[in-house]
Amino acid sequence: MRFHGTQTFLLPLIATLILTHVRNSSCSDYRYSNCSQTFQCGNVPNIGYPFWGLNRPDYCGWPEFELNCSGDAPELTILSQKFRVLNIINSSYTLNLTRADYWGTCCPSDGEFANTTIDTSFFTYTSNTQNLFLYYKCQTLEITVASQIFGLNLQFSCDIDNKNTTGYYVTRNISSTGGGGLAGICETNVNVPVYQENAEVLENNLTTSHLLEALDGGFGLKWDANNSLCEVCVGSGGLCGYNTSTQHFTCYCKDQPYPASCGSTQPNTVSGRRAIRWLRLLLLFNFISKKEQFKGPFYDGLIVHRSC
Ligand SMILES: *[C@@H]1O[C@H](CO)[C@@H](O)[C@H](O)[C@H]1NC(C)=O
Ligand SMILES: *[C@@H]1O[C@H](CO)[C@@H](O)[C@H](O)[C@H]1NC(C)=O
Ligand SMILES: *[C@@H]1O[C@H](CO)[C@@H](O)[C@H](O)[C@H]1NC(C)=O
Ligand SMILES: *[C@@H]1O[C@H](CO)[C@@H](O)[C@H](O)[C@H]1NC(C)=O
Ligand SMILES: *[C@@H]1O[C@H](CO)[C@@H](O)[C@H](O)[C@H]1NC(C)=O
Ligand SMILES: *[C@@H]1O[C@H](CO)[C@@H](O)[C@H](O)[C@H]1NC(C)=O
Ligand SMILES: *[C@@H]1O[C@H](CO)[C@@H](O)[C@H](O)[C@H]1NC(C)=O
Ligand SMILES: *[C@@H]1O[C@H](CO)[C@@H](O)[C@H](O)[C@H]1NC(C)=O
Ligand SMILES: *[C@@H]1O[C@H](CO)[C@@H](O)[C@H](O)[C@H]1NC(C)=O
Ligand SMILES: *[C@@H]1O[C@H](CO)[C@@H](O)[C@H](O)[C@H]1NC(C)=O
Repeated sequence: MRFHGTQTFLLPLIATLILTHVRNSSCSDYRYSNCSQTFQCGNVPNIGYPFWGLNRPDYCGWPEFELNCSGDAPELTILSQKFRVLNIINSSYTLNLTRADYWGTCCPSDGEFANTTIDTSFFTYTSNTQNLFLYYKCQTLEITVASQIFGLNLQFSCDIDNKNTTGYYVTRNISSTGGGGLAGICETNVNVPVYQENAEVLENNLTTSHLLEALDGGFGLKWDANNSLCEVCVGSGGLCGYNTSTQHFTCYCKDQPYPASCGSTQPNTVSGRRAIRWLRLLLLFNFISKKEQFKGPFYDGLIVHRSC
């Protein structure tokens, strides 16, 4: 095959145009663009997958990771219990959070007594987290007597139903150490997780203000929202997301969503094949119209195709 001067010049140019067209075949998928935006929720900046809320749409994260951003800190709901998020440490999949009803108080602000529950299909406590045991509506004992009987504990007071009631807290599970007597003199008790280091500070200084500091210091949760799938997706140039119809993990890529990682299913190969077919057609066209010059319309067509 012998090429005409202009054609030898035009052929690589057009081939390049077509290949460029294939690579940028459309603008970024809207889910890819929308989920590439991290967001600031309350006072916590740069929040990404698996969290969503505000202007970050639901398909960018899991339903269990919706954040309420209307307060000064993000609020996460786990099994209908509300938590105040202090920190999100994305690199270790760790959350630092407190019970919303125990923020700034050792008497639950809604007056409801509830143990802390977490959804174990998504969360586990970090190893530096332990429980505090809070007892409510107790008989009042002399503090010295109380500490002799129950070991590490102290009294605090709570206004419950407009009554000044007595509570006790312990930093160890006393029912396992044989000192479960508090259960006998209190109406109810609640487990609230705190960081071990804060529980130790409290043990060394049993005051209500240290109790409050331990509660407000939060505790650690590790999350798993298909973390390993997400790493593979990110490694392939994608962004992790959630398929709201299948309720499974999905990987948003510039061209389209994929189940696991970018380019890992049919469609991409199809567009590759389409490109080769185009090139063959072009060569054929070039062969047939050997003596003719490429005309405007064909060239214009390519340009039109490239825009999105
Ligand atoms: C997502 O992207 C589309 C297209 O860019 C836009 O119209 C839409 O408003 C975005 N949605 C959200 C929730 O940002
Ligand atoms: C979270 O961590 C991953 C990998 O460690 C990183 O690619 C991603 O950009 C981080 N996201 C945010 C919002 O910091
Ligand atoms: C979101 O948080 C605000 C204040 O922090 C609260 O008033 C509101 O009820 C919360 N919304 C939901 C849906 O939980
Ligand atoms: C938890 O977050 C609070 C507030 O940002 C911070 O003071 C504290 O050091 C954090 N604790 C851990 C263990 O990350
Ligand atoms: C919390 O759990 C303990 C056992 O771990 C139980 O004795 C107590 O009744 C529970 N408290 C509430 C309010 O359900
Ligand atoms: C409740 O009673 C305790 C002593 O039992 C007292 O120290 C505390 O100030 C009282 N609190 C209120 C709000 O009256
Ligand atoms: C406390 O210890 C008792 C006895 O070992 C155990 O049954 C109970 O589950 C423990 N409670 C917590 C909250 O760890
Ligand atoms: C206990 O806390 C009080 C008040 O914050 C402080 O004055 C005192 O030095 C602390 N004691 C110890 C042993 O840390
Ligand atoms: C992804 O997460 C869901 C929900 O926790 C779980 O059921 C599923 O097995 C996970 N898939 C993989 C591949 O880890
Ligand atoms: C969700 O999954 C369905 C079925 O596999 C698929 O057709 C669709 O493209 C997926 N959507 C997203 C946003 O991943």
